[in-house]
Amino acid sequence: MVNLKGKDIISLRELKKDEIEYLLSRAADFEKILQKEGYTNILEGKILATLFYEPSTRTRLSFVTAMHRLGGNVIGFSGPEGTSAVKGENLSDTIRTIDNYADVIAIRHPEEGSAKLAAQLSTRPIINCGDGSHAHPTQTLLDLYTIRKEKGKINGQKVALVGDLKYGRTAHTLAYALALFGADMIFVSPESLSMPKDVTTELKDKFEIEIKEYTKLENIVKDADVLYITRIQKERFPDPGEYEKVKGAYKIDLNVLENAKKDLIVLHPLPRVYEIDPELDNTKFAKYFKQAYYGIPVRMAILASVLGK
Ligand code: NCD
Repeated sequence: MVNLKGKDIISLRELKKDEIEYLLSRAADFEKILQKEGYTNILEGKILATLFYEPSTRTRLSFVTAMHRLGGNVIGFSGPEGTSAVKGENLSDTIRTIDNYADVIAIRHPEEGSAKLAAQLSTRPIINCGDGSHAHPTQTLLDLYTIRKEKGKINGQKVALVGDLKYGRTAHTLAYALALFGADMIFVSPESLSMPKDVTTELKDKFEIEIKEYTKLENIVKDADVLYITRIQKERFPDPGEYEKVKGAYKIDLNVLENAKKDLIVLHPLPRVYEIDPELDNTKFAKYFKQAYYGIPVRMAILASVLGK
């Protein structure tokens, strides 16, 4: 029997495969509730704190929506501007304080390891909503949910991860999870933005998979079942000149997909900048807005589970 009460969700490595399966299947239950009643009150009286030190549209607002649709309440901030961080308060003191205010804490912070630090200090479940370039586990859960929903299964799918694999935290966590679920992965990135060594080494050692890396999108489109494209993470480049060199590296349009499989799906964690031509939006390839919608039932499943409901 899976019990995730009190669990921190930092990088997905703290969850076993059956615990991830449990979250995905609960998300499917919540999706049905969303379609029928749109609401349940199982988290009535509970408070979620959203501490977002970096910009966010989908992650924060879907967590807020998820909490409201579970009957709970939300406190928090988006951007440190209005908080004591401006006065010089460190993250540790903020976490120690919020620990006394809320039942569960969702945090996004520019520093790698910040969510782990918060989990060490907090008695409440900590949900990592992105710590620098490191990890973004709730995005990965909704990515897995989307692939399973749209393709029927994850195991055996040929998934191309395209774009900024160096700084993209969504790509790091997704690569780990896809290996865990037995998908076949292809990495496509500019040479300077390839998947970090620590990620590929873990995949090879732990899952004994072969890593295929490319720089050109054309080489891989026809074989892919899922094309997961990511934004070049402008804000993480130490040198803006380096960003300028790679910013338009990949763009998917109908021309690029000419020889793609008929049932290929295109995913993107969003926001998109140059990566997907809007001409794709109304085609059957485009699943990225549906993917963003699935963030609601998936985050409902996470909140209910870590709060032991
Ligand atoms: C991603 C992130 O913040 O890492 N956004 C998201 O949560 N959907 C991707 C990105 O910013 O490129």
